[in-house]
Amino acid sequence: MSEAPLLEIEGLRASVAGKEILTGLSLTVRAGEVHAIMGPNGSGKSTLANTLMGNPRYAVTGGTARFRGEPLEGLAPDERARRGLFLAFQYPVAVPGVTVVNFLRQAVNAVRGEELPVREFRQNLFARMEQLRVDRDFARRYLNDGFSGGEKKRAEMLQLAMLQPRLAVLDETDSGLDIDALRTVADGVNALMNEEMGLLLITHYQRLLNYIRPRFVHVLMGGRIVRSGGPELAEELEASGYDAMEPAAPTA
Ligand SMILES: Nc1ncnc2c1ncn2[C@@H]1O[C@H](COP(=O)(O)OP(=O)(O)OP(=O)(O)O)[C@@H](O)[C@H]1O
Ligand SMILES: [Mg+2]
Repeated sequence: MSEAPLLEIEGLRASVAGKEILTGLSLTVRAGEVHAIMGPNGSGKSTLANTLMGNPRYAVTGGTARFRGEPLEGLAPDERARRGLFLAFQYPVAVPGVTVVNFLRQAVNAVRGEELPVREFRQNLFARMEQLRVDRDFARRYLNDGFSGGEKKRAEMLQLAMLQPRLAVLDETDSGLDIDALRTVADGVNALMNEEMGLLLITHYQRLLNYIRPRFVHVLMGGRIVRSGGPELAEELEASGYDAMEPAAPTA
């Protein structure tokens, strides 16, 4: 008996501001798998993340995306989150006046659809902070307000740990991660990843993939996946660049 894949995307087309960006993208992610998506600037990586989260500015014009066997189309972003989809963004917004701890409590309650007793929440949070080696003072700061790149990543990893999604989509792109931030992401992901969970890691950094070993690497160009392979594909890209990537012959 086989369970439905976590994510099954077939021939997905999506437009933003009247322009088609995703042009027939197909991708399947199963539980326990880490997939990396690499691709040049403007190829549609963040558009894929936005479309998966149900951002209303991104219109699906063709194809399908199923999450745990159910079509995502028509589901509001919060409903997608409740079903276990987690998206972390390239440019997180600052939320002055909302502390990390309060933000996390709201997020956890929203995803669970019920109020978790404060004591239970705090115990869980402190255990996760210890696991991710985050200082306790951190929880009292305002979310992303004056956070360094590494601290933003730490807040994101804490959110991931508290929500325990089935599929996490991390859009890391060109957000200027230094080596510490890369390690924060890598250590966090490696501590949290399990056989039930899938991970879609959008990155420009071959280096990140030395710390988080993906099972599959995909090259996204012109709004679709043109090559898929193992970790060696990321090394090939590093050596020869995207120009050398021949688009795959179209399949019937
Ligand atoms: N909200 C938007 N409004 C207008 N155009 C958009 C919007 N979002 C994406 N686009 C356009 O879609 C194309 C793909 O952008 P996208 O952000 O998906 O690229 P990317 O692969 O994530 O690039 P990068 O590596 O620079 O992060 C670009 O031409 C971009 O200008
Ligand atoms: Mg992007």
